[in-house]
Amino acid sequence: MSLDAFICPICRRPYPADVRSLFCRACGDPLLSAFVPKSPAIRRGRPMGVARYLGFLPLPEFDPDLSLGEGGAPLFPLNRLRSVFRTPPLWVKNEAVNPTGSFKDRGSIVAIHMAKALGFETVGTISTGNMAGSTAAYAAKAGLRTVVFIKDDTPLEKILSAGMHGANVIRVRGNYARLFVKSFEIGRVLSFYFINSVDPYRIEGYKVTSFEIFEQMGGKAPDYLFVPVSSGGHLIGLLRGFLDLKRAGLIRRIPRIVGVQARGCAPIARAFARGRAAVAPVRKPQTIAHAIANPQPPAGRVVLKLLAAHGGAMEAVGETEILRAQRLLAEDEGLLSDPASATVLAAFLRMSKEGRIPAGAASVLVITGSGLKTLGDVDSSRLRIAEADLSDLPQLMAAWK
Ligand SMILES: Cc1ncc(COP(=O)(O)O)c(C=O)c1O
Ligand SMILES: [Zn+2]
Repeated sequence: MSLDAFICPICRRPYPADVRSLFCRACGDPLLSAFVPKSPAIRRGRPMGVARYLGFLPLPEFDPDLSLGEGGAPLFPLNRLRSVFRTPPLWVKNEAVNPTGSFKDRGSIVAIHMAKALGFETVGTISTGNMAGSTAAYAAKAGLRTVVFIKDDTPLEKILSAGMHGANVIRVRGNYARLFVKSFEIGRVLSFYFINSVDPYRIEGYKVTSFEIFEQMGGKAPDYLFVPVSSGGHLIGLLRGFLDLKRAGLIRRIPRIVGVQARGCAPIARAFARGRAAVAPVRKPQTIAHAIANPQPPAGRVVLKLLAAHGGAMEAVGETEILRAQRLLAEDEGLLSDPASATVLAAFLRMSKEGRIPAGAASVLVITGSGLKTLGDVDSSRLRIAEADLSDLPQLMAAWK
């Protein structure tokens, strides 16, 4: 059923499409799909999501029985923030509305199609949250078993959703980077398909978000696209989506992609700022943006290479900026994002204030995850939550009015 081959994005060596062997033997970097869309036509009768853009994906067909209704996330302007801060035009693509509350569902639907087609009975993933829940949900829908490896210090509530979908969740003591490598070894021996953050099919699924943004903007690409970055898989997928649109003659220029990390764990942004080709691991990540705190991103070198080739950039934002951006989205735009997603507004506001975004340029911020999942991290002492006796209430409200 292989529509596909893999390729090393660093040395361009080709590989057969084998999900048990996902890294270049020469470079060690993660392989990407070498699939080149042959009939890149948008199927306009279909709803947004994989079905509408099937011609751009290495899947022979879309099976609605595997779908949980992912895709079609709304794109809307942030007019209030735009007017308060006098910024250039600004939209969000709210991926938090996907079935399990994050953009990960875009990748899970495509990878689970592959898992089924390749006859796997068990899939696995390494995650501290969103990816575990998403993979486990899609595996459950497909009738597959899931195993999730997490770090032993991961808070229990982060993996309860995966557990609810029946996943076998294992807290692993030991080095996290080595766990990543080990998972693939275990997968090869036991015939489990480990759908990790830089899986080539997961990354192909992220392209769909770019196709939707293109259509939702009236057949145009934005000038800037801001995306939070951890492993780098999402950024690579979004970039590939716009490159596909360009190759198909649907756009002339791809957006300037700005990957955003939290300063407390910014291995890729740091390497970018220093003009390095590879990332140095971060020893002790320290940020509220837990979902993007990957100290040793496996696709770091690939992200740096692609950004350099296609005019992208990386930014790092501080904790105060992240919390302020999260509050602004919630209070001024009604959008409850997780701190990882709020990094993109923080980076946009800084760049806009510094005059680094031209006045007429259209920016899209990709909100990747729902704030409903990270309410445990909220500092409630900053919220207007109080107690009162019933008899005092009229007076209290009159004073507040
Ligand atoms: C909410 C959220 N945003 C962004 C990311 C980063 O995605 P990637 O690892 O593909 O760079 C993650 C990854 O887990 C996430 O959960
Ligand atoms: Zn290579």
